[in-house]
Amino acid sequence: MVKSIGKKINTAVFISGRGSNLKSLIKNSKSKNSPIKIKLVISNKKDAVGLKYAKDSKINFSIKNFKKNSISENYILGQLLKEKIEIICLAGFMKILSKNFIKKFNKPILNIHPSLLPKYKGLNTHTRVIKNKEKFTGSTVHLVTSKLDSGKIILQKKLKILKNDTAKTLEKKILKIEHKLYSKAIVKFLANL
Ligand code: GRF
Repeated sequence: MVKSIGKKINTAVFISGRGSNLKSLIKNSKSKNSPIKIKLVISNKKDAVGLKYAKDSKINFSIKNFKKNSISENYILGQLLKEKIEIICLAGFMKILSKNFIKKFNKPILNIHPSLLPKYKGLNTHTRVIKNKEKFTGSTVHLVTSKLDSGKIILQKKLKILKNDTAKTLEKKILKIEHKLYSKAIVKFLANL
């Protein structure tokens, strides 16, 4: 990736649902100092609530249902090329991208995961963390590889679990952390390229 001074990096965000991380990424990307410009939003769900943030900010979006993975992925690769996308941020995207997609895109793909990776990969992290009586949890921004939640860690933020915390309270607290952490991790990642 060639970084030219003053030019923002064309970014695509992939979502599946609520899109609160997309909302804060859009908001933060609009600041003059942000290194990214969000040019494309991809959703695998046509009723993803988060799509409204793309619409509100007049960002192009595509919906592909991934019923046939390779067809959806090839269409998306075309869109990414058309919009000259240089980095993808997964934000609550509930599909696993194929090895082929990752190879063909051949540029960085980042993800945010609500646990202190490598602990608690996969779904229902908060419930498992509470059940296991962990003392800390948190969120991680990492690079995406074809292995679930396993790529190089870019940034993590730790949160102390209180006696009365539940999966619900943890979800709320961690989302709040994520809304800052993702943009911070992108800045760190791009600065180190
Ligand atoms: C976040 O907790 C993120 O870490 C995980 O999925 C959730 C997405 O939330 N991958 P939202 O759709 O951004 O509100």
